[in-house]
Amino acid sequence: MPTHVLILAAGQGKRMHSPLPKVAHLIAGRPMVRWVIEAALPLNPVSIVVVVGHGADQVVNLLPAGVIPALQAEQLGTGHAAQIGLAALGDVGDDDVVVILYGDTPLLTDDLLGRLAALDAEAGRVITAKVGDPAGYGRVIRDSSGDVVAIVEDRDCTEEQRQIDEINAGLYAIRAADLSRALAQLNAENAQGEYYLTDVVGILVATGRRMVAVEASAVEVAGINSQAQLAESRKVIQGRINRRLMESGVNLIDPERTYIDEGVEVAPGATIYPGVHIEGTTSVASGCRIGPDTFIVDSQIGRDSRVWYAVVRSSKIGSGCEVGPYASLRPGTELGDGAKLGTFVETKNAVLEPGAKAGHLSYLGDVKVGARTNIGAGTVTVNYDGYEKHHTEIGSDVFIGSDTMLVAPVKVGDGAVTGAGSVITQDVSDGALAIERNEQKEIPGYAERRKARRAKQDAED
Ligand code: UD1
Ligand code: CA
Repeated sequence: MPTHVLILAAGQGKRMHSPLPKVAHLIAGRPMVRWVIEAALPLNPVSIVVVVGHGADQVVNLLPAGVIPALQAEQLGTGHAAQIGLAALGDVGDDDVVVILYGDTPLLTDDLLGRLAALDAEAGRVITAKVGDPAGYGRVIRDSSGDVVAIVEDRDCTEEQRQIDEINAGLYAIRAADLSRALAQLNAENAQGEYYLTDVVGILVATGRRMVAVEASAVEVAGINSQAQLAESRKVIQGRINRRLMESGVNLIDPERTYIDEGVEVAPGATIYPGVHIEGTTSVASGCRIGPDTFIVDSQIGRDSRVWYAVVRSSKIGSGCEVGPYASLRPGTELGDGAKLGTFVETKNAVLEPGAKAGHLSYLGDVKVGARTNIGAGTVTVNYDGYEKHHTEIGSDVFIGSDTMLVAPVKVGDGAVTGAGSVITQDVSDGALAIERNEQKEIPGYAERRKARRAKQDAED
């Protein structure tokens, strides 16, 4: 049976109190609406339409290729949104199944949607769940034989209906012809003055068609209407990601305090300490130890590397590297195998060849550092003259003395040495020592004379 998917995502989400459209909020690195789309993909739908309205441009930008946006310029209710979505589906056979999902239920699973879409002779199915606190949700009304007869919105419930703890999840599968007929009969005579998609259930049942309830767990169908619910949904999704990682062989020291986005690759045999955030297109190879308290985005970390108390952005780290504690790797940092960046080292556009080391308190920007070179504590590549950035080139097996200022553009040849405290403004030849500082003077007995001068002063005061 051909299946089509409609996702309703035009609402503003007033209860979020956020400048972003509700469905654009990120959950583990993926916008809310994308979670819904991904869950629907295994249905192999002929087409997927997302009804957009509030922040339409922003939401359209989040849609993967092939997903069709349909504009609901005025949000007159979920029923109205479904009408617009159905029209945008194009060629739909009478018996085709239209699966309607809300863009604000990101926790649903493909397994649940599979059960929803498998229609027999009935007109449609609706997902329901028993919840502890049904406030705000539509209630499911069943007849004495247990068949669903209607859904009544929270605000339209009688006192008796409000006690019902079985709620409408907002996920439906309905035959196209039935859906289209029922949508045409909607009116807005209710507490919110909106066209309710939920009324479709009562309309179909009243004309002798059957609607079947598919029960789900309360967690899977939670609708996100507030920041607190968004945070809860994040916990659930992060829990799923972390469980998957652990099942694949990743060692999470404390899964409750591990924040790894969907799409990040962590190889079996890596260990992740608490307080780690890994985002974007990042991969972490086997044997790595990451964290505690580390933020990594859009970066590749090679085998057996250790990164702790560090921030790593758009960088590549080879295998057997050590980064941190307290290192900041800005975009364009590339560490060869076995390289090391220690405490309070900042890098940007910095290529360190294998075995190069900067152990302490350095800034390395717009620089290439050759293999096995050692950068002394307090070294700075002076890459900015107030107008432009300039490049520093340091050869291999170089020893840069502590507190060297490398005023770019400048080159230091292979095997060269710079004296501690030098300001290097000219290129240094291979194997040479470059030293730039005043000769040390010695004044014997100075300290005693100074003490005596002070004592005399104190006596006079
Ligand atoms: C809706 C259901 C309720 C159900 C709950 C489940 C209706 C009338 N009520 O209530 O029975 O228990 O979801 O979470 O359907 N939208 C549009 N256009 C509109 C209005 C809404 O696209 O004109 C979209 C929203 O962006 C949202 C979804 O439809 O993604 C649901 O709208 P929302 O206002 O959140 O409905 P609820 O009050 O939560
Ligand atoms: Ca909702």
